[in-house]
Amino acid sequence: MSKEAGNNEHYVNHLSDVNETNDVVATEDIYNSTGALLLPKGTAIEYRVHDFLVGHKMQQQLDALISVEGCLTDKSLENEFVDYIQKYPDLAKIHESSKFASTLNQLCIEKQIPRILLQKLTILKIQLPGIFDQTLFSTWLACLLAKQMKLTPQQVTNTFYAGLIHDLGLLHVEPTLVNKKSHYTSEEWHSIKQHMLISTAIAKLIHPFDDEVYRAIKEHHERCDGTGYPNELHDDKLCNVGQLIGLADMICHIRTRQYNLTGKSMANILPYLQINLNSFKFESYQAMYAILQRAELDIGELLDRQTFLSVPKRIILQRVRMMQLHFAFSDFVKMLPPDTHGKHRNALLDSYKKISNIITRGGFTSPETLDWLENIKDADYNEVHQELQELDDMQYELLWLFKKAFRIIPSCINEEVPDKHDITSQLKEKMTILDQNLLQAWTDYQ
Ligand SMILES: [Fe+2]
Repeated sequence: MSKEAGNNEHYVNHLSDVNETNDVVATEDIYNSTGALLLPKGTAIEYRVHDFLVGHKMQQQLDALISVEGCLTDKSLENEFVDYIQKYPDLAKIHESSKFASTLNQLCIEKQIPRILLQKLTILKIQLPGIFDQTLFSTWLACLLAKQMKLTPQQVTNTFYAGLIHDLGLLHVEPTLVNKKSHYTSEEWHSIKQHMLISTAIAKLIHPFDDEVYRAIKEHHERCDGTGYPNELHDDKLCNVGQLIGLADMICHIRTRQYNLTGKSMANILPYLQINLNSFKFESYQAMYAILQRAELDIGELLDRQTFLSVPKRIILQRVRMMQLHFAFSDFVKMLPPDTHGKHRNALLDSYKKISNIITRGGFTSPETLDWLENIKDADYNEVHQELQELDDMQYELLWLFKKAFRIIPSCINEEVPDKHDITSQLKEKMTILDQNLLQAWTDYQ
């Protein structure tokens, strides 16, 4: 098991917290690796026993030695899925039009989910409810996509387990970091990036799953265009299931966080898919389009008729900001010494190419688009509202691409620019400017 999962102080804290409302009790005598009795059977996992449990090797099996009152069951987990889906009318419509209820039932009930997994999910639900909800969404959507892509029943099952387990590692990461909304420091980012490895280690302790499950968990933050982490792998090195979970996670983020604030639904997901076309496997996009088409969701009128003229103004301002960001990024890329080699440099150049393509394709430099935006009038609402909305969404997504690309820069400078170059400090200065410009663009957008 990884170092972080072995030293699971945060997880023991979660157990003690849960014990405040739901009894968490040792179901057997718990010994350490040298055979000394740490806790007799029946002891509550409360704060006073915390020090006994932290740092001992027996923790690797801790989940098998405890019980949690009110633990989820196969049936109650299925109900959690259904209740969650029903909270969002668009998800409910997709679920119904895809006739997915019977598949979900089979996955939850017939497969008999391992008890330890249900127990871990119970702790996740109580301690990190946002991550639990995201787990429900992503598992549901990834399985739906797997079925739409006609993956084998075994692969759909693998998708289900990888979906349920992929973020359990976050229970072993400092909770303030997991709940942090703003920018991470590089040390914080390093800790967050460990969660895929911890989740993989947890999966191995839960049950002997197919290798595809472990691989998918490990790869769920990798992206086909090499812009993911931790290994910046490309399409041909990535398995389908991991990418389905990655896509489902990203759509979950857009739908339940970003869109919730603006009244948008899965019907508005197209600009996001267009911008990220190279990030995931093409077949998964095709599957998503097919699912959305079948659901016949209503796009609706999202822009307020009275104030919609502020939107073209915002789009124009953001286009200027993004062009500036793009120029600065271009300067940075040109400054990289030619003998810089490695995966971070490659990922950075891939990201730069991707952003440049979108800027060209998206008409950022087109005088016609600018002219069109500048001359929109009140009376044009019916004709332009949908197009404006999509343009606005597309630019927001582009900002995310800049953010993801800039995250790669510190590793590239520190690990791959050869020491002999005096240019390192100039690159670092340039990086600070890029970060400041990005922050400004982000703030303006919100
Ligand atoms: Fe994750």
